[in-house]
Amino acid sequence: MNALSLFLPCAAGVQEYLAAEVLKITGIPSRAWRAGVALHGSWRDALALNLRSRLAQRVLVQLAQNAYRNEQDLYNAAGNVAWELWFSPQQTFKVEVTAQHSPLQSLNFATLRIKDAIADRFRAKFNDQRPSVETRWPDVRIYAHLTTDSVTLHIDTTGEPLFKRGWREDKGDAPLKETLAAAMIAASGWEQQCKEGVPLYDPCCGSGTIVVEAAQIACNMAPGLARRFGFEKLHPFQAHVWQAMRQQAQSEVIEPTAPVFGSDVSFRMVDFAQRNAERAGVAHAVQLRGGDALQRPPPATGGVMLLNPPYGERIEVSGVAGARPGQLRRAERARNSGPTGPRPGAGGAWRGEPVDARSNADCSDSTWWPVLCANPKQPSHLVPRRSEPATIRPFELDAPNLPANHGDRLRPIPDNWGSSKRPGTNARSPQGLSARGDRHQHRARSPGLS
Ligand SMILES: C[S@@+](CC[C@H](N)C(=O)[O-])C[C@H]1O[C@@H](n2cnc3c(N)ncnc32)[C@H](O)[C@@H]1O
Repeated sequence: MNALSLFLPCAAGVQEYLAAEVLKITGIPSRAWRAGVALHGSWRDALALNLRSRLAQRVLVQLAQNAYRNEQDLYNAAGNVAWELWFSPQQTFKVEVTAQHSPLQSLNFATLRIKDAIADRFRAKFNDQRPSVETRWPDVRIYAHLTTDSVTLHIDTTGEPLFKRGWREDKGDAPLKETLAAAMIAASGWEQQCKEGVPLYDPCCGSGTIVVEAAQIACNMAPGLARRFGFEKLHPFQAHVWQAMRQQAQSEVIEPTAPVFGSDVSFRMVDFAQRNAERAGVAHAVQLRGGDALQRPPPATGGVMLLNPPYGERIEVSGVAGARPGQLRRAERARNSGPTGPRPGAGGAWRGEPVDARSNADCSDSTWWPVLCANPKQPSHLVPRRSEPATIRPFELDAPNLPANHGDRLRPIPDNWGSSKRPGTNARSPQGLSARGDRHQHRARSPGLS
């Protein structure tokens, strides 16, 4: 169990960040592929990666790689793997097949042949006993990947995918996957800056995915502390080893090193985010408020802004940017009434905010926010907006275009933008963002506000 071939799939575009994360967790260099990383590690490394990785979708152990031409070759390849070292005939299992340019006619038939081979191997070794197939909640998941001419067989150590951190019960209409929120944070470079106290703000926080991820990072809290894993049902599992690893991770949790803020025009969403933060153990590390992103005062004079804005498919833009004249007041009244109205103070001032705090629109001379966003047309594909490794490529939230094409909404701010308009006097520089003069103003423009 000390020389396993591990493969960690991730969203396409995230692999370089994942390779860096794997190195940080295990100390082992990995090889980045298009949507995943591969490394040689131990069983212990596999457990640590499950517990601590924010970016991987799962942790797989490669058990075979063979050439194939037909389904019988798949049967032979699967029949030669010592599955009995990993699980027993009393357990349930599921086979999932993915393929790229496979010449086979039917992936269902390929899946069936691999399943048959595993069952037949158990029957032969355990006096006709075999594990049953369970497609919804299997004890063991087996993944086969087919290319033009090779089949790779993996056993999964994760179980439910890693984006399920175990804290989410309340979700909005378009929640971001936790792994993708973590990828946005990784691409922004905030993980380093948060150690120096640089704030993070999501002004369209929805159910709070970005803020909860960020707050856990600020508290050095491993993402897997609140969930169970598939490896707990595999033969190599030793409860005392796992307990010690969890306790170690628990003992590393610290007070937040940087403030994390979230707000949303929907008070119902703010309530969801608050409850999710409580379940994730980071309620003390976040400040969540209601309010229109274009109107509410920013929570600090500088930092990193990350958002997954509405893009008019599942979620419409609300507030000043989305309302037709006359709609706004009705919408605001409806949002604030009813059973899921705001908690006391949910729409109020940020802690420490002066009573006469200016609105966001009035703050154009004091707030400098780099904005980073996932590609909303392909939520599974992060577009890391960085121009070079150490600096963020900022984007401007362009309010008048919000309901239209999303590509128009988040525009790169020209490199010289800040130099002509940035007053530079009362804007505190978020550390680490100013290496190339990369401090940019979050300008919220809309017809009634400019
Ligand atoms: C795509 S969702 C964000 C989902 C969030 N990342 C999550 O994981 O739950 C967009 C959010 O923007 C909010 N929103 C829409 N218009 C807004 C505005 N003008 N100001 C602030 N939030 C707004 C919506 O209420 C919604 O929660």
